[in-house]
Amino acid sequence: MIKKIGIITSGGDSPGMNAAIRSLVRSALYSNIECVGFYRGYQGLIENDYKFLGLRDVSQRLGLGGTFLKSARSIDFLEKVYRAKAYENLKSHSIDLLVVIGGNGSIKGASVFSEDFDFPIIGIPASIDNDVFGTDHSIGFDTSLNTITHAIDKIRDTARSHNRLFFIEVMGRDCGNLAIHSGLATGACYVITPEVDFSIENLISRLDEGKKLYKTSSIVVVAEGNKYGSASKIAKDVGKRYQEYEIKVTILGHLQRGGSPSAFDRIVASRLGMGAVQAIKSKKFNVIVGIIKNDIHYSPIHSVVQESGSIQNEIIKINSVISR
Ligand code: F6P
Repeated sequence: MIKKIGIITSGGDSPGMNAAIRSLVRSALYSNIECVGFYRGYQGLIENDYKFLGLRDVSQRLGLGGTFLKSARSIDFLEKVYRAKAYENLKSHSIDLLVVIGGNGSIKGASVFSEDFDFPIIGIPASIDNDVFGTDHSIGFDTSLNTITHAIDKIRDTARSHNRLFFIEVMGRDCGNLAIHSGLATGACYVITPEVDFSIENLISRLDEGKKLYKTSSIVVVAEGNKYGSASKIAKDVGKRYQEYEIKVTILGHLQRGGSPSAFDRIVASRLGMGAVQAIKSKKFNVIVGIIKNDIHYSPIHSVVQESGSIQNEIIKINSVISR
């Protein structure tokens, strides 16, 4: 019987984490399960930095970006001696299960912890990268995608006015989902991702083709984790061989992680929060709660650790045909 849960947000924050905590806490309390939040992810768990969470503690959080429980990438948690401290702290509060809201790295950490101490955990995928296996949507991806889209729309205005070629670097770590979706949403003529091999020749022939079709400006979206290099390096190498455009580079950076969550992310977060409590009630432990084909889905945490999310080739295909 699970009577009390611990909750952390871990890794890079993402818009909608607060909405997930709110849903999780309120759904848990509704089922008479108490909640203890630990600050700064695994680090707060190690340092026993906690707060009991009641109904009103999660008020006015739904539309706030970031995470009020704060987040961290704990280096200490990589060592078993610190994981043991975290375990002792959970036990000292009589906590029966830990819910980890975070991305791939955080879920992997949870899996190791669960194996170390035979302690039940549940993962809720939250990452702007949308690279977590076992869900179609990770919390924060939609908001980030919209932020990128609005930023590129603005850059396009100036690119068009000055007949320029812009290389725009977006986040995503080693996953190209933010890049390919923002590329399609903004009509970028080319998207460079970690998953697909890139060659300068290919890009130049695409730019040439655009010129012949009377294009006067262009946008190239560069995923930060691509294997060729940064947007600045790519821009420099293209500039040496292609002088048709004046070239500019924009690195969008951490603004992609901030802001009020979109309606879609608030809904995903609320569904996953309640989904986690439903898993607890039906004794599904060591799973990640996801949404697949619009249904709540539970995947064993070890499968999530072994696989990573994939990009949709269909999105790349559409963009290559219609963005010219
Ligand atoms: O995983 C989310 C993410 O924003 C990645 O897209 C990015 O590579 C990374 O986190 C940046 O992390 P930090 O904020 O720690 O520099």
